Amino acid sequence: MALLKAWPKSSLNLLVFAVMLSGAPGITWIEPLDPVITPGGNLSVNCSTDCDQPQFIGLETQLVKTQVDNGTRWKVFLLRNITQDSLLYCFANCFENTQMTHSTTVTVIREYFESPEPVNLEPLPRWILMGQNFSLRCQVWGGKPRQNLTMALFRGPQELSRQAVSEQGPGKAAEVTFTATASREDHGVNFSCRAELDLRARGLGLYQKSSAPMELHTFALGTPRLIVPKHLEVGKKETVSCEIDKLFPVENAQIHLSLGGRSLSPTVVRGQDMLRATAIVIIAEGEKEGQRELTCNVTLADHDREVQENLTVYKSRRDPVPIVMGVLLALGLAAMAGAIATLCLWQNLRKGSYQPQTLPLQDRTPMETPETGPKGPSPVASA
Ligand SMILES: *[C@@H]1O[C@H](CO)[C@@H](O)[C@H](O)[C@H]1NC(C)=O
Ligand SMILES: *[C@@H]1O[C@H](CO)[C@@H](O)[C@H](O)[C@H]1NC(C)=O
Ligand SMILES: *[C@@H]1O[C@H](CO)[C@@H](O)[C@H](O)[C@H]1NC(C)=O
Ligand SMILES: *[C@@H]1O[C@H](CO)[C@@H](O)[C@H](O)[C@H]1NC(C)=O
Ligand SMILES: *[C@@H]1O[C@H](CO)[C@@H](O)[C@H](O)[C@H]1NC(C)=O
Ligand SMILES: *[C@@H]1O[C@H](CO)[C@@H](O)[C@H](O)[C@H]1NC(C)=O
Ligand SMILES: *[C@@H]1O[C@H](CO)[C@@H](O)[C@H](O)[C@H]1NC(C)=O
Ligand SMILES: *[C@@H]1O[C@H](CO)[C@@H](O)[C@H](O)[C@H]1NC(C)=O
Ligand SMILES: *[C@@H]1O[C@H](CO)[C@@H](O)[C@H](O)[C@H]1NC(C)=O
Repeated sequence: MALLKAWPKSSLNLLVFAVMLSGAPGITWIEPLDPVITPGGNLSVNCSTDCDQPQFIGLETQLVKTQVDNGTRWKVFLLRNITQDSLLYCFANCFENTQMTHSTTVTVIREYFESPEPVNLEPLPRWILMGQNFSLRCQVWGGKPRQNLTMALFRGPQELSRQAVSEQGPGKAAEVTFTATASREDHGVNFSCRAELDLRARGLGLYQKSSAPMELHTFALGTPRLIVPKHLEVGKKETVSCEIDKLFPVENAQIHLSLGGRSLSPTVVRGQDMLRATAIVIIAEGEKEGQRELTCNVTLADHDREVQENLTVYKSRRDPVPIVMGVLLALGLAAMAGAIATLCLWQNLRKGSYQPQTLPLQDRTPMETPETGPKGPSPVASA
């Protein structure tokens, strides 16, 4: 619109008139079509018509023009120092004053490649499940002419795919969507989009602009499996373990084991795409019998998988028969010991009765007499 405003009013009228007639059978022609030039460039434009005796052939433009060549049915104009995108209208007045036009746009490519406008790769969820399809969306601003603009998707340095950018106005962002299936190879790799404007066929260059790289993280997470006894005996050591495979990347995974709501501190073994946690549990004496829930959960990449199993805690009761036998045995031994003791005592008594005087009371009395030292037991205490 800024372009139209800059035009003189008369030109604008002509332009409107021309627009009204555009689309008529192409008997006026402009060449080249959709030219692209670098800033400050010159352009030769050939306006031609196929009517027999054209009364007038002209070029309508805001740019400074010079007619440089002519024929009966054509004129060539030179446009110099073109610094911005411009509309060009060729017209020819033929018999009965009918006017035929044909228009095109000169594109100056500086605006795109010197602009800081980015090529953008839309962010993805931080982690993508392997095997899942995901979309990578790349946006590009500018990039004229759009029919020569393509967008390529790169995984590291490798080009995965390429698409033409839809032909919307270059003023709008154009979006290209690539779909890929997440794989292990994608993990930790930088993806990026690259816009390419290929104007080599027009004698200009190949212009490229890339998005910032985005590192992809892919993961796999199987279902954990518990390897546990069904019953736990109070006071006895038991081994419980939990294993998970189809796990990637193993180094990012965490495994937790808990029993009856209490966290265990398992020994964790990491293998190829596998993780195993093993813990020794002892149910303390005095704990109640019954069900305890053993839980294993594995977390990876903001996802988790959990399995549970109920284990039964029990106390062992000794068999009653051995107890009775033990008691009987004990009683028997006690009885025997008693008999032996009685026998010995009786023999001692008999011996004593033979020599009751061998230990006269007088002989022992001095030994039992308390000493009168400060540390000795007091007579009261010994009495
Ligand atoms: C455009 O034409 C002018 C005059 O003819 C010349 O001086 C200038 O170098 C040309 N510019 C380009 C980019 O060819
Ligand atoms: C201009 O275009 C006409 C029609 O295509 C052609 O006959 C003529 O030779 C062209 N002139 C020049 C200088 O290229
Ligand atoms: C080219 O233009 C000149 C001046 O406008 C005119 O005299 C001449 O007849 C034209 N040539 C042709 C072939 O129409
Ligand atoms: C080309 O145009 C620009 C802006 O319109 C002007 O600054 C510059 O001096 C011009 N260059 C020539 C060689 O005429
Ligand atoms: C992923 O896309 C491919 C082809 O684009 C399709 O065959 C496959 O079924 C899709 N997978 C899922 C999980 O959507
Ligand atoms: C660029 O666009 C032009 C006009 O549409 C087309 O003829 C040409 O083949 C395209 N070139 C490339 C390299 O895409
Ligand atoms: C991915 O890109 C970032 C930012 O440029 C860089 O720091 C990182 O090293 C790259 N990673 C790989 C694997 O190339
Ligand atoms: C997994 O275990 C951790 C640590 O015990 C806990 O913080 C987390 O909430 C558990 N996740 C689920 C889903 O139970
Ligand atoms: C364990 O037992 C509790 C209560 O008895 C029950 O709610 C829960 O669903 C059981 N869990 C499993 C994994 O069987």
